[in-house]
Amino acid sequence: MLEQLKQVEEDALKALQAVHDEASLEAWRVTHLGRSSGLMEVFSKFGQLSKEEKPVVGQRANEVKQALEAAFGARSEEIQQAALKHSLEQEQLDVTLPGRRLPLGRLHPDTQIQRELYRVFGEMGFQVYRSREVESDEYNFQLLNFPVGHPARDMQDTYFIEAEGRGDNPIVMRTHTSPGQIHAMREYSARNPQDPPPVRIVLPGMCYRYEQTDARHETQFDQLEGLAVGPGITFSDLKGTLTDMARRLFGQQARTRFRASFFPFTEPSAEFDIECFLCGGKGCPVCGGGWLEIGGSGMVHPVVLENGGYDPIRYTGFAFGFGIQRIAMLKYGINDIRYFWGNDLRFLEQF
Ligand code: FA5
Repeated sequence: MLEQLKQVEEDALKALQAVHDEASLEAWRVTHLGRSSGLMEVFSKFGQLSKEEKPVVGQRANEVKQALEAAFGARSEEIQQAALKHSLEQEQLDVTLPGRRLPLGRLHPDTQIQRELYRVFGEMGFQVYRSREVESDEYNFQLLNFPVGHPARDMQDTYFIEAEGRGDNPIVMRTHTSPGQIHAMREYSARNPQDPPPVRIVLPGMCYRYEQTDARHETQFDQLEGLAVGPGITFSDLKGTLTDMARRLFGQQARTRFRASFFPFTEPSAEFDIECFLCGGKGCPVCGGGWLEIGGSGMVHPVVLENGGYDPIRYTGFAFGFGIQRIAMLKYGINDIRYFWGNDLRFLEQF
């Protein structure tokens, strides 16, 4: 039986040499250590041995069993290490591979141009002043010298919000950023009513009008208002400021023109145009006659100065207001204002 044990051990260890994976290792375990193995056969015949043989064979059988189990454990460890090494080699993480691109948002062209305008006016000493979008008739019209029933209101047909008991002062979505002039002047002049400080601000924001939409008109659009109030401000300052703005935005070659106009809150008043870049001044569906109307401007009307807390004898000022989308159209060659709020990615991704 000792001979049989020796053979069992030799056969098992030899067979283990040929084992290289988990599946054949398990098969080896069943064959050489399982219930029907040669080793177990020796254990099952144990009862047939004489009293003298039993301790000798028993000890040897246990030694063989321990040796085979140890060999099995060592082989199992080797196979696992080899599998790990193989997978590390095969499935290497290539850190130089470019990552998957996450679609990142970007600034809307309207926001881009607004920020550029803040920069341009910031360089000229203007601060940004934010004013409300929901206004009263009083601020949107009356304090700007549009009395109730004044025909100039027709130029800014708009949405009113029905509210009980407001009489001639209904709530209105602002039609222009000009009511911000009154808010700003009142805030500034309240700081020192006897000797109000000068004002040099730009007022950005959304405006709303009941409008027949076309390539140049939307029912909601952004304006940028400008206001400068102080002693001795003249129309030349206004012309210089707006011409300089156009050159800073579009380059030294930018051509501008002022046309006499009417606004109840400025006197004198002028429309401010920039030569159309889309057609080079020849005339196209966007501009009409080669010039794109950018906005209105003028010297602040004495009534408006007074409504803002500034004495029109001591102070003068200029104001302007233009469409931010109109500027963006010129700058980027956009031929229809309706693209701005259309949320079409094919448009937005170009900026
Ligand atoms: C005004 O709104 C005056 N408050 C501007 C002003 C301010 C004049 C200060 C004098 C002093 P107007 O209605 O022309 O004026 O509009 C000014 C500009 O806003 C237009 O030239 C245009 O660029 C833009 N705008 C007006 N309506 C629309 C519209 N429906 N869609 C897009 N842009 C518009």
